[in-house]
Amino acid sequence: MSGKYATETLHVEEGGIARAAEILRDGGLVAVPTETVYGLAARADSDAAVARIYEAKGRPSFNPLIVHIASLAQARTLAEFSPVAERLAEQYWPGPLTLVLPRRRAAGLSDAVTAGLDTLALRMPAHPIMRGLLDAVGLPLAAPSANRSGFISPTSPAHVLASLDGRIDAVLDGGECEKGLESTIAAVRSNGAVEILRPGPIALEAATKGEGAIEAPGQLASHYAPGKPVRLMASEVAPDEFWIGFGAIAGDCTLSESGDLTQAAARLYACLHEGARSDKPRIAIAPVPQTGIGIAINDRLRRAATLPD
Ligand code: TXA
Ligand code: MG
Repeated sequence: MSGKYATETLHVEEGGIARAAEILRDGGLVAVPTETVYGLAARADSDAAVARIYEAKGRPSFNPLIVHIASLAQARTLAEFSPVAERLAEQYWPGPLTLVLPRRRAAGLSDAVTAGLDTLALRMPAHPIMRGLLDAVGLPLAAPSANRSGFISPTSPAHVLASLDGRIDAVLDGGECEKGLESTIAAVRSNGAVEILRPGPIALEAATKGEGAIEAPGQLASHYAPGKPVRLMASEVAPDEFWIGFGAIAGDCTLSESGDLTQAAARLYACLHEGARSDKPRIAIAPVPQTGIGIAINDRLRRAATLPD
């Protein structure tokens, strides 16, 4: 324990969901499993609880949070659903799609959640433990990825503790995350156009890629960083490099020996965490094909390889 909280690990078999719900209702912080990555949850209607998320992560206050909801009915009280948004929600929720929609002002959310934007990012997760928790709390939960700001996202309770032990009340154990990459973020514009702000597990065919101002700060050039230099497209390795492999390149840790991109997505952050922990001062990563979810993997790798300003 390194910070001001004695971070507990909660287990579902031991009443962990009810305990996590109680901590959250009291305004506390709980790291929660989702099908993408672990989130750092707080009740989204409380200024004090939301402020604690920014403090624990060291997150800049201009970077808004995703609000997680249990049902479409609950989502409709928080944001305006156009016919296009309704259709996307019906098709992909629950699941790894975040919709950025016009915010309803009177909805009772803390203003810190949206960092002053007129839009709100909403997601209905599919993970059974997270769904059980949302039902038990009965409130929308703000939850960014459960890591210090700018660092690698967590796909296991150990990853969460590696950066937030002592800074949060609890972590609810849900084992390893299935998808391993953050949700696809799609903004639905007032003219019905759909713009992808962050590529992820769901590929939306009829959508354009956002190229304008940085609207989702997760799209900052440097993000998901392991704290040491990262070299991409590495077909060979130097003695001082930890090598992350793919397919024919085994490396010190492989994303997928068989060259399977879904498996590579699920293992990406675990390999980056291993590289961060290793005594090698640098990380090299084998080429990953730019198709399907490989597009989202390469998006995260480019940001992991960019040094902060
Ligand atoms: O899979 C996920 O989305 C995970 C799990 C925990 O749900 N959450 C996640 O949160 O990745 P976070 O905070 O690490 O990334 C959320 C991204 C940030 O880049 C943020 O800037 C963007 O969503 N965002 C939030 N609200 C937004 C809004 N109103 N407009 C545009 N971008 C927004
Ligand atoms: Mg994040």
